[in-house]
Amino acid sequence: METLTTAKANLDKNGFLDIETAPDMDFVAEIKRLKKEKNAVILAHYYQESEIQDIADYIGDSLQLAQAAAKTEADIIVFAGVHFMAETAKILNPSKKVLLPDLKAGCSLADSCPAPIFAKFKEKYPEHVVVSYINCTADLKTLTDVVCTSSNAEFIINSIPADKKIIFAPDKNLGAYLQKKTGREMVIWNGACMVHEIFSMEKIVKLQARHPQAKLLAHPECEAKILDIADFIGSTSALLKYTQSVDTKEFIVATEAGILHQMQKANPDKVFLPAPPNNTCACNECPHMRRNTMEKLYLAMQYELPEIHLSAELIEKARLPIDRMLEISAQAGLK
Ligand code: 13P
Ligand code: SF4
Repeated sequence: METLTTAKANLDKNGFLDIETAPDMDFVAEIKRLKKEKNAVILAHYYQESEIQDIADYIGDSLQLAQAAAKTEADIIVFAGVHFMAETAKILNPSKKVLLPDLKAGCSLADSCPAPIFAKFKEKYPEHVVVSYINCTADLKTLTDVVCTSSNAEFIINSIPADKKIIFAPDKNLGAYLQKKTGREMVIWNGACMVHEIFSMEKIVKLQARHPQAKLLAHPECEAKILDIADFIGSTSALLKYTQSVDTKEFIVATEAGILHQMQKANPDKVFLPAPPNNTCACNECPHMRRNTMEKLYLAMQYELPEIHLSAELIEKARLPIDRMLEISAQAGLK
């Protein structure tokens, strides 16, 4: 381990900056200073730890963050989120430096759909339009006609002419939910998010019995049995808006627990209960999202590493379905 003063900024073989920070370092002050000095913007997903959300320039769901990335005039984009999100920001800003505080912040859903295997699968359906959830790799995006996020997915599916057949990848739960909502038959890839599959139906029902006034909010990545009993289903930003739009005082929240920070901030007098997972660990925190810390955020900004690198060819191909999604969302006024 080197100290800050002697360190040269190099990533070790695991993609980490092997640098020790001073124990009394004020990360909030340092990150604020670096933001100004380097004209950097911090984009943070709702699933980041509270301190990171509080220092971010934009907090949002996947669509809002992609829209913010498409618009930013900053020189450096620091993505406090996971790899596919930082990749999307890089695809939208090929000439900018995009940093991800921890390169290993991946996504079980993206991992569940390897592009070479999907390419073979797709060959069986040459007439189908491919709609991919943004939670997938840049390679998968190159095999996609239009990307969607949880907040525009229904709209994107409905924008596809009724006579066209659809493949939906990689989330089977979101796919099944969309099939039900839109009435469109789809070929659905068998992938899932490890966080949204962990909720225990039995424990949620018990919690509801103890809090009979509470409304159950669920993200569409949850399994159908949870969605069937939910009072409201939506993307992270839609769930947050919903908590502000109703008089209800108690909510059970079936999505990653990071969103509770913004829900509580927006509604200080209301009570938010994380939906319990089917074991005793804190599994409704995404282990990938939570790899980012204030220390790693500071180091990434100080040393401008780890950086996202993608080939020009990959960027060109992966950009088309993202641009299509942004265009359709803009036409519909979705944000
Ligand atoms: P949204 O940001 O679209 O709500 O999706 C949640 C998610 O799982 C991000 O990884
Ligand atoms: Fe991926 Fe699920 Fe984590 Fe989102 S919450 S980054 S979908 S593993």
